Amino acid sequence: MSAIKINVNGKDQTVEVSQDTPLLWVLRDTLGLTGTKYGCGMSLCGACTVHLNGEAIRSCITPVASAVGKKITTIEGLSPDLNHPLQKAWMECNVPQCGYCQSGQIMQAAVLLRKNPKPTDADIETAMRGNICRCGTYQRIRQAIKQAAGVKK
Ligand code: FES
Ligand code: FES
Repeated sequence: MSAIKINVNGKDQTVEVSQDTPLLWVLRDTLGLTGTKYGCGMSLCGACTVHLNGEAIRSCITPVASAVGKKITTIEGLSPDLNHPLQKAWMECNVPQCGYCQSGQIMQAAVLLRKNPKPTDADIETAMRGNICRCGTYQRIRQAIKQAAGVKK
């Protein structure tokens, strides 16, 4: 165990964990940020997606030590009051079913829209293909991303 300093959602935090502890466990168990979910633990489902310096990463396979000196953003920090265009579109389109995959979906989509503000269906398909939804909400996810982007549905 060692004292590791990380920055999460704009706040500096010191956590007492092993260097190789997956970031996901630090976020959920140490810091209580349970919006980020554990699905597969093998970088296969996208449920654990957060941002590291603005890029979408799978926190289940990211050792906490590799996040030192970088900015971590979780679903709790995406916007101060659910006013990110994706969060608004998600609610308007009633995207979630069970909800389990949805924070990962939104975090992945947020990076897509930052890099490509007017994505085509093919762009969305490519960017989101690593985020699995067992409830099959893919159609509403695409609809919400397009709504947030202001592109024709
Ligand atoms: S829990 Fe990380 S990709 Fe599935
Ligand atoms: S909404 Fe249930 S897994 Fe995606």
